[in-house]
Amino acid sequence: MLPTTIPTELLSAQPAVLTFSNPLRKGAWSDSDVARFGAPEQPRRVVVRRADTIRVEAFTQRQSFTTHHDADDAEAVLGTLWMSGFRQVLMQTPSEDIQVLRSDSRVTLRRTAATRTAWADLTADRAKQRPLSPEHDAALLHALDLATTDGTILAPMADKYRQLNHLITTALALPCVQAGTPLHIIDAGCGKAYLSIALVHVLRRDGRDVSLLGVDTNPHVIAHAQDVVQKLSMPDCVFTVKTLRDLWTQPPTPPTGHAVLLLALHACDTATDDALMAGLTLRADAMLVAPCCHHYVQAQLAVSTAPAAARLLLDDGITKERLGDLLTDTMRRDIVRAFGYDAHLQEFVALEHTMKNILLKAERRAYVATPNLLRVHESAVTWGVRPKLLELVEANTEM
Ligand SMILES: C[S@@+](CC[C@H](N)C(=O)[O-])C[C@H]1O[C@@H](n2cnc3c(N)ncnc32)[C@H](O)[C@@H]1O
Repeated sequence: MLPTTIPTELLSAQPAVLTFSNPLRKGAWSDSDVARFGAPEQPRRVVVRRADTIRVEAFTQRQSFTTHHDADDAEAVLGTLWMSGFRQVLMQTPSEDIQVLRSDSRVTLRRTAATRTAWADLTADRAKQRPLSPEHDAALLHALDLATTDGTILAPMADKYRQLNHLITTALALPCVQAGTPLHIIDAGCGKAYLSIALVHVLRRDGRDVSLLGVDTNPHVIAHAQDVVQKLSMPDCVFTVKTLRDLWTQPPTPPTGHAVLLLALHACDTATDDALMAGLTLRADAMLVAPCCHHYVQAQLAVSTAPAAARLLLDDGITKERLGDLLTDTMRRDIVRAFGYDAHLQEFVALEHTMKNILLKAERRAYVATPNLLRVHESAVTWGVRPKLLELVEANTEM
């Protein structure tokens, strides 16, 4: 039984952001909690933003549910969340953070310096808003060659604009971004860095302390990205000509106290494996990776070594290619999981835009220096393949 009375310290601060995490039970969630917070099951995490009104965002395994409550209901809302059995609560206020840990018999409070800098629009319903809009972000959209000077989206760039909003929304929901602490973004194979520059812009607009390192082998795209951030007066955005292998063999040092978010969009073939290797080496707090051009595993698939029941998939080029894509990405996901990440593959953009529509989303829960790769080895043996990321981690981590 966890201690039942919520500490008064958690009830008194406003404005405040309270993050309830580490639930005691998985799956159980009373009918009245369902009615109050909209989530059909015990969320893994609940973020309460408390200002003139209260906004509660409950994150289950796959979805988030947002509800709004009157300021007068603070005690009831917070008390109910406390009773529903989270072991950990972080309360961020403008003057201090309070970390609350609950064991079976006690509640421990730890006060530390304030980490959150963004206090504007605390309870606005962001879910309904696009992070980027022609009305508010014309200069950025124009600098990224997506819009005219007045913000009108150029017709050929409409898909890209939609994708950007979708990806930024995904990034904003990551726990390390939600936490409001300083953030360092690494864009691996950044190209013209549309996404990372736009993400920095959105976070800065919210008052966040955020820095960016973009890495690419192509000096022309690096020069272009440098030019864009200079035009937009965005300090702490650095772009450098390097390989993604350099990124993990000579990892950069992120600014002290910054959470690290690694992005890698469409890094060709095994460059995605180098990007993931960099994320693992840097113990990134989160990674968003959209792979493309999966040649490495595909080239190893052969009728002679594939499981007999799956040989029909290798008869035609198109099915062999898709099988290679899926094997590569599911094994990448499992390798990342073995290092202590909560990793999932999800849809990235609608299929009508591209067949390459898988996004690997990984959030660090713990870090495991000696990963258990048994499941990956079983898949590798079954299919007679050896993915690049498996080679990299085995050659470069203590097993
Ligand atoms: C298809 S583009 C994607 C650019 C950008 N991420 C985007 O989604 O708009 C792939 C980029 O990865 C870079 N790239 C590919 N392999 C790389 C490697 N091994 N090291 C660094 N950059 C690499 C290429 O130069 C190119 O700019």
